[in-house]
Amino acid sequence: MYTQAMDVPPGTSSPHETPSATSVDLRQHAFDERIDADGRIEPRDWMPEAYRRTLLRQISQHAHSEIIGMQPEGNWISRAPSLKRKAILLAKVQDEGGHGLYLYSAAETLGTSREQMLDALHTGRAKYSSIFNYPTLSWADVGVIGWLVDGAAIMNQVPICRCSYGPYARAMIRICKEESFHQRQGFESLMTLMRGTDAQRAMVQEAVDRWWWPVLAMFGPPDADSPNSAQGMRWGIKRLSNDALRQKFVDATVPQAAVLGITLPDPELRWNEARQAHDFGPIDWDDFWSVVNGNGPCNRERLATRVQAHEDGAWVREAALAHAARRRQHEQESMKEAA
Ligand SMILES: [Fe+2]
Ligand SMILES: [Fe+2]
Repeated sequence: MYTQAMDVPPGTSSPHETPSATSVDLRQHAFDERIDADGRIEPRDWMPEAYRRTLLRQISQHAHSEIIGMQPEGNWISRAPSLKRKAILLAKVQDEGGHGLYLYSAAETLGTSREQMLDALHTGRAKYSSIFNYPTLSWADVGVIGWLVDGAAIMNQVPICRCSYGPYARAMIRICKEESFHQRQGFESLMTLMRGTDAQRAMVQEAVDRWWWPVLAMFGPPDADSPNSAQGMRWGIKRLSNDALRQKFVDATVPQAAVLGITLPDPELRWNEARQAHDFGPIDWDDFWSVVNGNGPCNRERLATRVQAHEDGAWVREAALAHAARRRQHEQESMKEAA
């Protein structure tokens, strides 16, 4: 439910009054000044409608990605090769569920309900990160997701800790700490496999060959094709461009691949002395858009599993509501007795 009241500072006009042109100008001015000074916007502060909508879309898509992202790896919990690996994987998948919860809470402060956000996800109106529409075919995929997918997520998310919207920035600080554990466990799991047998090394290389290009695409379309990025940067929601983040990720990952003894599947990947950065080959954007638009290998399966999980959990929501109602009733009765 939209509650305009959240956008109105105390002591100003009520949500039912139409603010005058001057008061809107003054609020816009105060908002711009706060953004320019790198200050934080909080839920009760006035904000332009487009800023609110942009944040709501970004934070809810981020929340959806966290909970859909539980599926590809959750698929391996019952098949983890040891008790230790199972415990680590369970903890990681639970962390992702927690990330979804912090982010839905942050998005709710913008005046929309969790039910509305989940409905948008379940009916296919909302997007989530396209990387989770690829399958996890071998145990090495779990390590590669930790190393590359969580590694890319950290690159993307560390700058959001300085996002201009306070609740989102604060949620990201804790999330990034946990993502860092996810990346480390992936790297360590791959290191163990790379020290194992030829078959284990081949399994890792095959997984990296499948994941490398979709991971590079995770950073989003090239800057030239991202018309909304400039406004996001102006508002302090986005701090680094898609291409800048992708470059940082490639530069950080190449030396890690060398330590692991893995070959990244790009014949054009090489150090460019003049740029002090790695050059890399072209990304297949047609494949990216096809997956974003619902035609990836697992889109239908991911959504169907999510809807099923939601339906299976209906009794928990009903029980929690009934419990809350009974508690309220008891409180009212004991207040009457006391009076
Ligand atoms: Fe996460
Ligand atoms: Fe993660």
